[in-house]
Order: sequence, then structure tokens, then C-alpha cells
Amino acid sequence: MWHSALLFLTLVFGVQCAPKEDEITDLPGLNYAVNFKHYSGYLEGWRGKQLHYWFVESSRNPSEDPVVLWMNGGPGCSSMDGLLTELGPYLISADGTLKKNDFSWNTVTNVIFLEAPACVGFSYDPHDNCTTSDDEVSLSNYMALQDFFRKFPEFKKNDFYITGESYGGIYVPTLAVRILQDEDNANIPLKGFAVGNGLSSYKLNDNSIVFFGYYHGLYGDNLWSSLVHHCCENDRANSDSCNFATPTNPICIKGVAIAMDIVYNEGLNMYNLYGKCLHSSNSGKMKRYFTDVGHLFRSQPKQKELFEKFKHRLMSLKSSDPPCTDSRDMQNYLNNPEVRASIHIPGHVQEWEICSDRVYAGYQRQYENMVEQYKYLTSHVPGLVYNGDVDMACNFLGDEWFVEQLGLKAVERRRMWHDGDQVAGFVKRFDNLDLVTIRGAGHMVPQDKPSAALKMITSFIFKKKY
Ligand SMILES: *[C@@H]1O[C@H](CO)[C@@H](O)[C@H](O)[C@H]1NC(C)=O
Repeated sequence: MWHSALLFLTLVFGVQCAPKEDEITDLPGLNYAVNFKHYSGYLEGWRGKQLHYWFVESSRNPSEDPVVLWMNGGPGCSSMDGLLTELGPYLISADGTLKKNDFSWNTVTNVIFLEAPACVGFSYDPHDNCTTSDDEVSLSNYMALQDFFRKFPEFKKNDFYITGESYGGIYVPTLAVRILQDEDNANIPLKGFAVGNGLSSYKLNDNSIVFFGYYHGLYGDNLWSSLVHHCCENDRANSDSCNFATPTNPICIKGVAIAMDIVYNEGLNMYNLYGKCLHSSNSGKMKRYFTDVGHLFRSQPKQKELFEKFKHRLMSLKSSDPPCTDSRDMQNYLNNPEVRASIHIPGHVQEWEICSDRVYAGYQRQYENMVEQYKYLTSHVPGLVYNGDVDMACNFLGDEWFVEQLGLKAVERRRMWHDGDQVAGFVKRFDNLDLVTIRGAGHMVPQDKPSAALKMITSFIFKKKY
């Protein structure tokens, strides 16, 4: 009698409430024992949308360590990229095996990788409706998070952080605002947020990349003088006097188009200026490249033309031509039927690809910048804006201008920070917002500088010195 009552209580109120059916017990390609639990399954978003999540518990102290949500961008790209090529505990390799990542973020935190919105990766909509918008995405993600804490109630007492990259610059702050405003009384214990190479303002991103290109040796003086003369007030080249983002002068428009051709269109790797442009026959790569460049110069009169040209080039690529990134290893791995079974993907769900054309094509962007969101957030929770400083998709300078323009009180002067005995980048701290660069990293910071990235996120979350 006593025993069964106790058993009943343990079952209902016990700490081990994690969903057994989502636990990953045998992951193909993982040829060593892992010292943490991991789960893969679905969380329910808005209107029954089924969002695929992959949760890796901390290998340190899962019951005490914070829970971190990670989101890749696009819009339309998969967070499996973050898991398997950036900050996850096991990284994909060309032979299809998973290699241990000593700098995984799950060495200090529990990490949820969420594929959102519906139709990205293995996520799906029951009515196959892939059309969505910024506000719907944050709502759907908010509901999915509530579902996560229903599945894993034991983690609700832990601190919670939202992180993401690229178009995550929109996903992260909009979701954080929703959680803090807590329309559903869900009491998600949000303690902070971090955005890596985020899209924070289209205008500042577009304006800054033109400076970035010149000062990284991409154009030369003739083009630069012409740009400054025709796009800037009184021939003064600074962020306030130049308008490379929405020019009206026809010579300026032409100059910007030439500069942007060099930056985005002629074989440089836009995600890492000094990185190799990888050769791939995989259309997924192209899609990702195509998707990520779509946010650039949206308001520029020449943008459409530039974009069409870009698209034309992508479509005409032969298998050996360089779209610069390569997700074939991930694609092969995740579409392996044994892998799908081991991570509990139902048979009716589409094949995995890095970015979804359908999501991208139907996506409604509602925000020109995140100023209002950051103003609200910085009066509630700490934030981190970090940038690999050789990325050209969402370059460090645009995000630095964005943060500076918020007018927050500086609490620590700009200084170098170190990883081991090397300079890892620069840091400046404002009231509730840290601005950090990672020297020599591109768009995917944890991929390019894993050790520095882990030190950075650890410093932010655990409030240690960078
Ligand atoms: C698909 O979703 C969008 C966004 O919620 C909505 O506006 C549209 O009506 C939906 N389409 C259909 C066919 O239900």
C-alpha cells in the first residue's frame, strides 16, 4: 500500500520526467560513449505546428546548469547546422561519423536546438502551410518552449537563455520580448539572450558592409573615392554622413552595386572573408547562400537587379562551381533512414535540407530593425551581441553601430579579451548589454573559433570576466 502510493508519487512528481520516447539511445555514427542524455522529438507550436527539437543535456551538472535555446537563421535555415557543425557535442565529419567537440556548449549548459519555423528541416505543419511571419514565428516558438517545459518540467527551475545567429538576430529578441511580456503566464525563467552575427538593422548592415569591404582591401581607391563622393555628405566617410543602404544618386547606386558584386558575387566566401570557398554540387548549399543573401540591400533600388544576377549565377553553377559552403555531410547523415529512426522522425516528414525555399519564399519580414526590442530587453535582462569580425553577411561593424546607437550607458570601456595567451577579440560593456567581437571568426563563430566561443558564452552566462 505504502509502496504503491510512493511509486505513484514518484511517477507523477518525480524529478525524472523527461520523455522516454524522445530519448536518443543509439545514434548512428556516434562511436564513443557520451556522458550526457540527449533527446530528439517534437514540440507543438502555434496551430498545431510540429517543431523538431534536439536537446542535449549538460555533461557537467544538468540539474543545475542553465538551459540554452539555440536558433539558426535564414529565415528558413535549420538549427541542425548549429548542433552538427558549430556548438553541439558531436560534429559531423565527411565519413558520416560524429566527432567529439571539446568546446561544445553542453560542457557548461543544457542546449535545445530548435528547427523553426514549420517546414524547416524536420519541422512540419499539419496542414502543410509553410507561410509565416516574424510575429508568428515568435509566437510559435514561445508555445513550443512551453511545450518543452511540459515535457521537461525538471528544467523549469534552471536559468534559461535564448541564443541564435544571423536571422536569429530577429528570432532571439522577438521571442525574448514575448517571454518577458508573458501573455500566457508560462513563467519561463528567462535570464538573458545572446545574438551572434545577427541581423539587427537592415540599414546599418547594408551601410557598414561597404566600409568593411573597402577597409579589408576589396575595392581600391578609385571605387572608394567615387562612393564617398557620390554617397556621402561633404565627402566625409562615416556612418552618419554616408548612405550606401538607400541611395538615390545614380552614380552612388551604380558604385554600391559594383562594390556588392565584389563582396557577395565573385567568389569570396561571404561568411568568412578569409575562409575557403567550398565547392559543392549540392543544391542545399546554394539555397542557403541564396537565402542568406536575400536580406541584403532590400531597400536598395538596384537590389532587385543585383539579386536577380546573383540568382542567375547560382542557377548556372555547375557541380564544380563554388557556392562556398557545404552541408552535404549533414544532409547525407540526417537523411539516412537509420538516423531518422534514431531521432524519432516519422516517415511522412520531408527530407532534411539545410534551408527551406518554401519558408523563405512565403516569409513576411515585419521589422526593419530591433531597436524597440533591445530597448525593452536591456531594461529587463542581460544581453550579448557578438560578432565574428570577418563575416560579411552580418558584419561586426553594423552590429557595433546598432548597439552604440541604442544610447545605453557604458559600464566597461572597450578592451581586448583573451583566450589562453592570444587576443580573442574586443569587448565593450553597456548597462545590461555586452558587445563582443571574435577575432578571425566568420558568420558561424563557434565553428571558426570554438574555444573562444565557449569562453565567451561561459563568461556571459556565468558573469565571469571575458
Ligand atoms: C497559411 O498561414 C498563413 C499565415 O498564418 C495564413 O495567412 C494563411 O491563410 C494560411 N493558408 C491557408 C491555406 O490556410
